[in-house]
Amino acid sequence: MSYDVVVIGTGPGGYVAAIKAAQLGLKVAVVEKRKTFGGTCLNIGCIPSKALLHASEIFAEAGHSFDTLGVEVGTPKLNLKKMLAHKDATVKANVNGVEFLFKKNKIDTFIGTGKVLGEGKLSVTTDEGTMHEVEAKNIIIATGSDVAGIPGVDVQFDEKIIVSSTGALDFGKVPGHLVVVGAGVIGLELGSVWARLGAKVTVVEFLDKILGPMDGEVSRQFQRMLEKQGIAFKLGAKVTGVEKTAKGAKVIFEPVKGGEAETIEADAVLVATGRRPYTDGLGLEAAGVAVDERGRVTIDDHWLTSVPGIYAIGDVVKGPMLAHKAEDEGVAVAEIIAGQAGHVNFDVIPSVVYTQPEVASVGKTEEELKAADIEYKVGKFPFTANGRARAMLHTDGFVKILADKATDRVLGAHILGYNAGEMIHELAVLMEFGGSSEDLARTCHAHPTMSEAVREAALATFFKPIHI
Ligand code: FAD
Ligand code: NAI
Repeated sequence: MSYDVVVIGTGPGGYVAAIKAAQLGLKVAVVEKRKTFGGTCLNIGCIPSKALLHASEIFAEAGHSFDTLGVEVGTPKLNLKKMLAHKDATVKANVNGVEFLFKKNKIDTFIGTGKVLGEGKLSVTTDEGTMHEVEAKNIIIATGSDVAGIPGVDVQFDEKIIVSSTGALDFGKVPGHLVVVGAGVIGLELGSVWARLGAKVTVVEFLDKILGPMDGEVSRQFQRMLEKQGIAFKLGAKVTGVEKTAKGAKVIFEPVKGGEAETIEADAVLVATGRRPYTDGLGLEAAGVAVDERGRVTIDDHWLTSVPGIYAIGDVVKGPMLAHKAEDEGVAVAEIIAGQAGHVNFDVIPSVVYTQPEVASVGKTEEELKAADIEYKVGKFPFTANGRARAMLHTDGFVKILADKATDRVLGAHILGYNAGEMIHELAVLMEFGGSSEDLARTCHAHPTMSEAVREAALATFFKPIHI
């Protein structure tokens, strides 16, 4: 068998690259070792977590704000089995959707483990051990990432009591006390799910702030909101042990600044301390494909590895481990292979934490601008002063826009609020076109919408907002 392009891995990077390449007229096949397509994101990541985040959010709202809105439903009762079934059905619909798109675009599919044999050649080995070779003018490595664990700590994941995100998407009952190691995106999203469903949640984090790379002001206010929702934080705490006990598990940690170690007992522990690039069994070394000191496949500015005709995209290469970053790289590399000019603007990749409220950002944080010695202006607007937010009882949070002091060009934007993940995109588009905060402030926004707060924050960077 011979193809123009063979993609190894069908996550958001791989399946999008395959579809785009087929749309551009190339003969394409994909290799996937999982039984279903869609990778981490569709099977055990973005999609199932968002199904549970949504359902648990409605459950929490029913208990808190429905009554104020005049909707009397009594005390909401959790049917966890049904909630998990909704999650599983959502996953099924999405992974089947990818299979449909492969058929529609006449993409051949191989189920098995892909191994790179060298320039233009790879093998596929099925679970039963049958192996065959495939020829490809171009190979795209899109094998994604896997749970990293805690460096130096022996964590025995059983995915029932000591779990990674995968087990935390599937607890058979709500844990009494869930200890989360790591206040990153996974820890806060999945910690929120189980806190809303009734678990006591304690998050232990190495850094002295939650969501490390986020704008500091957003991080501080967000932490207060999560604390109000009942989530407890132990910051500046380095976890040195996660062990099973007769009753459940325990987490041992010590203050980063030095001091006595502490132990917390838990019914379950979610270890969410990052992910590592996944290249196991790919045969990279033998094929001469270089990786960097963190195990990421080394690429040039056009996603080409150290071997001609072999490209790599998504979580397995440098950059943020985000589905939409992987997708954009998939499109770009397919275009490059087809002789076009594929490009990704890494300065404008939005990032969203799908908690309640959501945290969305694009571009630079204040800390990054200060470190780079860039003079900037700040415009802020709180949702308490937004009519639509009040009508929906979603007044938590604010919009913060950072614009260049001299040119007014928008350099970064941070939104903490209900639906922030939808609102951030007008800022992404603005930044993609090099727009200024005045451009945004002079754009008519429909009333009443929460996006009016975005406009007001833009106005606040150079003059005065109207509604505060
Ligand atoms: P992956 O999605 O990891 O896909 C790689 C695929 O390659 C897998 O299917 C794997 O089986 C296959 N594979 C690996 N090796 C081989 C081989 N040798 N042969 C054949 N197949 C192979 N990102 C967001 O942007 N938004 C979110 O809301 C979000 N939520 C997340 C929630 C959780 C719980 C997790 C864990 C992650 C989340 N992410 C989210 C991150 C997102 O899932 C990843 O950034 C994204 O999946 C990366 O896509 P990818 O195509 O690079 O790799
Ligand atoms: P992360 O890198 O976001 O957070 C890990 C946290 O664990 C960090 O804050 C780190 O300081 C902490 N930590 C590490 N070692 C520790 C120790 N010994 N003790 C205490 N704390 C420790 O990683 P996470 O949350 O596992 O997510 C992995 C990836 O998945 C992220 O890169 C993220 O981009 C992606 N993802 C994206 C989502 C989204 O876009 N909404 C949702 C979920 C995941």
